Amino acid sequence: MSYHFDRTCVAVIAGARPNFMKVAPLMRAFLLNPGIRPVLIHTGQHYDENMSGRFFRELGIPIPDYHLQSGPGSHAQQTAEIMKCLEPVLLSEKPAAAVVVGDVNSTVAGALVASKLGIKVVHAEAGLRSFDLTMPEEINRIVTDSISDLFLITEESGRRNLLKEGKSPDQIVLVGNLMIDSLYANMKQALESDIMKRLGIPEAAQFGLVTLHRPANVDDAQQLAELVSALSDISEDLPLYWPMHPRTRSRIEASGLNLPDRIRIIDPLGYVDFLCMQKNSAVILTDSGGVQEEATVLGVPCLTLRNNTERPVTIDFGTNRLAGTSKRAILSAWRQTQCSPMPRRTPPLWDGQAGERCVMAIKKFLAGSDIPSQVLQA
Ligand code: UD1
Ligand code: UDP
Repeated sequence: MSYHFDRTCVAVIAGARPNFMKVAPLMRAFLLNPGIRPVLIHTGQHYDENMSGRFFRELGIPIPDYHLQSGPGSHAQQTAEIMKCLEPVLLSEKPAAAVVVGDVNSTVAGALVASKLGIKVVHAEAGLRSFDLTMPEEINRIVTDSISDLFLITEESGRRNLLKEGKSPDQIVLVGNLMIDSLYANMKQALESDIMKRLGIPEAAQFGLVTLHRPANVDDAQQLAELVSALSDISEDLPLYWPMHPRTRSRIEASGLNLPDRIRIIDPLGYVDFLCMQKNSAVILTDSGGVQEEATVLGVPCLTLRNNTERPVTIDFGTNRLAGTSKRAILSAWRQTQCSPMPRRTPPLWDGQAGERCVMAIKKFLAGSDIPSQVLQA
């Protein structure tokens, strides 16, 4: 059996928290540009109200056309489950292209299913590399890019990496940063948020904000204890607020670690409240990819508690510093941040218009592509 592509249809695949800020502006731009019918597919990788549902409402993302309800699991189980559920959807919709965003398991699963059906794969946020294969996201990035057809990049390092990997220059388009489109679109609401009042924070710049969820930092009990010890010392200078990712919460609970009162653990925040907290914090301590980028645009000092970043522009242009993962290195970076703040420059094209540029690039790509009249047999 063979299948005919629908040249007017593009599948947009999202599944985890950082995907939602990226698909929001993309869906908006698609819906403002007639000629393409976007089909939104939620893989269900993240499923809690405060990791998923809430972002759809706050960011104005349309209700997904399909919800695959894949849920948690080991990497193999989760990726396989998404692939299994996605294949019949793509076979039924027959999109000419599938857009995958970022570097999560939903990204690589979407790219694999689409490319094996002969559907063109568009990777938004392509080309980023940490060069650290112990990071599951790095494997997802490399595999996704190895089978993508159009590379929408956020920074020039992405172009350099893709060219080194043999991609052709005309497959690569610098579009800016979809996540930063969401930041600009929601800044007014963020400034009106009452989250600081609800948390009893009297003044801006009198607290630090923490997010940690990378397996290398939180799954290893010894490493987690090292980070908590560094944060405890910093909290003596500045109270810290820590909206805790569910992965981290379960590890902290299992570890029996005691946190001082000046580190306040709260549930993951909604996007607008979190943006408000970022904007008003004196420092952000994080291992998140997206938060490094948001801190850069907000001009808030950011200490990245990792040994590498796939987003070097946040260091070259922004307020980000790699602080490492040992207590000594983190405390030294904290002291450096206090005495020599980094100047802030916004990276090229991080201007709130990336969604438009993505859609233009996708339309041009589809118009110029040799889309076969049939997809491969499933
Ligand atoms: C995933 C991404 C990571 C991204 C992060 C953003 C991969 C490989 N990792 O990591 O790149 O930075 O999302 O937040 O795709 N859980 C819940 N509720 C939820 C979601 C998760 O309780 O709504 C718990 C489950 O116990 C689950 C664990 O968190 O097993 C981890 O979730 P998972 O999606 O596998 O990975 P993340 O650590 O969230
Ligand atoms: N974020 C949020 N609430 C929180 C923590 C983060 O809305 O409590 C947002 C943050 O503003 C950014 C995105 O989540 O837009 C980053 O996602 P995450 O850190 O989960 O993933 P990563 O970017 O590391 O892949």
